[in-house]
Amino acid sequence: MRMTKKVTAMALASMMALSLAGCGSSSTTATTAVATEAAKETTAAATEAAKEAATTAAAAAATTDVADKKVGISIYKFDDNFMTLYRTELVRYLTEDLGFKAENVVVQDGKGDQAEQTNQIQNFITQGVDVLIINLVQSSAAEQVTDQCAAANIPVVFINREPDATEEDRWAADGIAATYVGADARQSGKYQGEIVLATDNKGDFNGDGKVSYVMVMGDPENVDAKYRTQYSIEALTEGGMEVEKLDEQRGDWDQAKGQEIVANALTAHGDAVEVVFCNNDAMALGALQAIETAGRKVGEDILLLGVDALTEALQNVQDGKMTGTVFNDHIGQSHAAAEIAGKMA
Ligand code: BGC
Repeated sequence: MRMTKKVTAMALASMMALSLAGCGSSSTTATTAVATEAAKETTAAATEAAKEAATTAAAAAATTDVADKKVGISIYKFDDNFMTLYRTELVRYLTEDLGFKAENVVVQDGKGDQAEQTNQIQNFITQGVDVLIINLVQSSAAEQVTDQCAAANIPVVFINREPDATEEDRWAADGIAATYVGADARQSGKYQGEIVLATDNKGDFNGDGKVSYVMVMGDPENVDAKYRTQYSIEALTEGGMEVEKLDEQRGDWDQAKGQEIVANALTAHGDAVEVVFCNNDAMALGALQAIETAGRKVGEDILLLGVDALTEALQNVQDGKMTGTVFNDHIGQSHAAAEIAGKMA
């Protein structure tokens, strides 16, 4: 499952059309290196349309089989903007498109507490669910959770927080019914860097030959935080820019933390801050509050980047209050997870 897309104000209209065409797509690559290039958009849209047709057929075939199957879902915490969109679409797709009965789809809030989530999974197992869809609180708990499910012969689909490679290799080697569905965060990082490179001064407002930036990272329990941090900056250096890291802090995907981190960074470094990278839009929304409070103006003396393409962030991009965001396809990801779960069940 690899779905991300650059979003800047110019690219917004065509991007939205493409994202709708992408509904129901499956676990293959759908990327657009430069979102404004109409030809690429058209090709990608056509591919997506073909995939959508295949998915619709698969969904129709699955409907009769899953009517009495039970799905247990646990989300790392309900209080997360992106995972709320994801979970809503996941339940909608399972019930409306794949034919699971609403009473057979149960969703639990992991409340950011692995012990709590492990208990929920144990309860699902005791209740005899046919398949589990798990957004882990701690990705390091994957081995224990997988063993719990395997011992009860229940397949598990991990989403959004990827277990490490050793664990995924073990599933294959031992024939364990476990899998992972997620987006490639290397790509969203790279796209953030490319959006900066596409601006007039490439993020170098003071003309000193380097891009001085602040990085607001997500929770490292999701590898997206590491990849987006690394690949955004690599895209800048590969694009020929020198970079200077003024600050890098962990904001745990959280708006209030994003605001605090950026407020502190602006106090400490003032006008030297030229670009604020946030690993997601929630933190970018917080960063924007801090930027406005500090009297800075996005596009005029600072750039601000997010990831997810939340509605609020898209509006900000359109209004010139954010430089760009990168589409994190909750629709494609939730559909792929639901379809795999349906098949495994
Ligand atoms: C999203 C974040 C979200 C996180 C949760 C990431 O892929 O971009 O917005 O908070 O997943 O694990």
